[in-house]
Amino acid sequence: MSEKEKTETSEAEIAVHWGEEAYYYPSLEFVAQANCTDPSIYERFSLDNFPNCYKEYADLLDWYEYWHTTLDTSDAPCWKWFVGGKINASYNCIDRHLPKNRNKTAIHFVPELEEDKVEHITYQELYVRVNEFAALLRDFAGLKRGDRVTLHLPMTPELPITMLACARLGVIHSQVFGGFSGKAAADRVVDSRSHVLITIDGYFRGGHLLDHKEKADIAVEAAAKEGQTVDKVLVWQRYPGKNSTPTPMVDGRDYFVNDLLKKYYGARVEPEKMPAEAPLFLMYTSGTTGKPKGCQHSTGGYLAYVAGTSKFVQDIHPEDVYWCMADIGWITGHSYIVYGPLALGASSVVYEGIPNYPDAGRAWRIAQDLNVNIFHTAPTTIRALRKIGPDEPRKYNYKFKHMTTVGEPIEPAVWKWYYEVVGKKQAAVVDTWWQTETGGFLCSTLPAIKPMKPGSAGPGMPGIHPVIYDEDGKEIPTGANKAGNICIRNPWPGGFQTIWGDRERFVRQYYERYCKNPKSKDWRDWPYLTGDAAMEAADGYFRILGRIDDVINVSGHRLGTKELESAALVVPEVAEAAVVPVSDEIKGKVPDLYVSLKPGFQASPELAKKISDALAREIGPIAKPRKVWIVTDMPKTRSGKIMRRVLSAISNKGDVGDVSTLANPEIVDQIRKMVL
Ligand code: WT7
Repeated sequence: MSEKEKTETSEAEIAVHWGEEAYYYPSLEFVAQANCTDPSIYERFSLDNFPNCYKEYADLLDWYEYWHTTLDTSDAPCWKWFVGGKINASYNCIDRHLPKNRNKTAIHFVPELEEDKVEHITYQELYVRVNEFAALLRDFAGLKRGDRVTLHLPMTPELPITMLACARLGVIHSQVFGGFSGKAAADRVVDSRSHVLITIDGYFRGGHLLDHKEKADIAVEAAAKEGQTVDKVLVWQRYPGKNSTPTPMVDGRDYFVNDLLKKYYGARVEPEKMPAEAPLFLMYTSGTTGKPKGCQHSTGGYLAYVAGTSKFVQDIHPEDVYWCMADIGWITGHSYIVYGPLALGASSVVYEGIPNYPDAGRAWRIAQDLNVNIFHTAPTTIRALRKIGPDEPRKYNYKFKHMTTVGEPIEPAVWKWYYEVVGKKQAAVVDTWWQTETGGFLCSTLPAIKPMKPGSAGPGMPGIHPVIYDEDGKEIPTGANKAGNICIRNPWPGGFQTIWGDRERFVRQYYERYCKNPKSKDWRDWPYLTGDAAMEAADGYFRILGRIDDVINVSGHRLGTKELESAALVVPEVAEAAVVPVSDEIKGKVPDLYVSLKPGFQASPELAKKISDALAREIGPIAKPRKVWIVTDMPKTRSGKIMRRVLSAISNKGDVGDVSTLANPEIVDQIRKMVL
């Protein structure tokens, strides 16, 4: 074992491990209407039929030119899918639905304020708005194929409209979660080398109209310091024609989109015929270093994968009303609010606000009023809604046929409330395990074919062949129910192409660990390391235990401990910082932050608050630690490494183990007394 493994602790190690549960079966009513009821799909997608099986997903799309090579492995492990194919994502999500479904709602936009009007944007209207904005991006902002543009937008229709306008032009969009800080947006502007930033003046959250424009000013200034000039900031208006921010516009740099758009009314833009492997977007995510990495997703492979999984796992039919209550600022929203559902021609709900505004019944009222029949959310939201309104769903007259949970492991008790109370025992539930990197689902049940098992994500998706390796690279057999590192044996079309601008890190982080031969061009030699621990039961269902690296999953959002630590070190008084994951009843995991101070400084509640505020300012409010513990010294090994494992045991009220070999064992008791 390396020293790192001895000193640090991971999420998976503090995960709650629960036993295996009994199966639940979907209703006949669900099965009778499901998209995928033929179990032979697992054979069609077996390794013997790999990679050509994925033609089935690609054929859900309209191609300008069909591909000649399904999978090109010559640049392993940067896989290329559907090579030779030409396609446009905006065309596939909009134009092709017009002949039959012009007047069907594409996006139901639900503002957070209940007194504001719900917008029902038809496919025709989406077409008009995307074309006009694409013309503006091309002619006013000068954007063209391959350029990157950073979006910092909240949950309003302008976000999918902007994404689809970029996709129409072959411009690579990089959307930053709206709740992230201006500083976080700046880091992503710099890394992607964006010259244009697209934002909005304000949006509602918890009943307040937040000033969002101020973050753009911070972002542009911070990016300039790093040498990246943003020459245009395009500002949507939350209420078109009305200014919702007190932050002034900067002359010659900032433009209200709604003013500019007048010039483009009626404009139409031919979709660019993009190569299948052209990047569609970047999605930054936290990793083991302080610097977030831009996961680069392709156009053809990604769109095929999200269309296929939306159809077979989400069971989306064109006539369904589908509501995924995630934020489009995360991969879940890209794949399963925007690209997947719209590629299939469904109606997708975009809700601006928080699930419990103004009360615990809001989500169920929206479901009832819009006739939502497919619902998708995260365990953290399910836990929170269960806590504040355990009987609320019974008061509303909606009917879900299907529900999804995503983002973190779900405890069987919470799963059962979701199934029994939210789903009224009528909805098929899928627990989908995947990642920003993977574009779409890796493990899940197929809802009409495989029974549900609370607390287990399920088997690998058709065409996804998971394997669990132990530390030495030996396979842990099916049914062993023994934890190990879950990897995927084979590439799949939704997988990211590389880390933007950092192929070396891509190979090192995801492939080096279990690579059988670094010179090989054969995909069989390159298992993909997910970074999660898991165990596999005899029925081939996987239980995911959590991250094995320095990443913490807070309310289904990924935070790198190193990122939090470097944000704490921005505070001048702080000498050392260590972040550890702590189990939390609602959020799954939350970070605890331990800091020691430079000589001459004293601990105080004010200083603790200042440090906590620094994390919110540098990253965003979701990065706020549960507690900031100011300690006189960190527990350290003789070689000076901070023992995060000991701090984690203290925060989680667990056993610190043998600490006698530490350089400063006496500190452990002192910290424990302080925390307990
Ligand atoms: C990490 C990826 C991709 C969706 C949103 C999160 C954890 C995700 C599950 C699940 C147990 C899950 C894993 C994974 N995770 N889904 N159904 N059961 N754990 O995307 O921010 O890239 O985080 O979330 O630890 O590695 P992300």
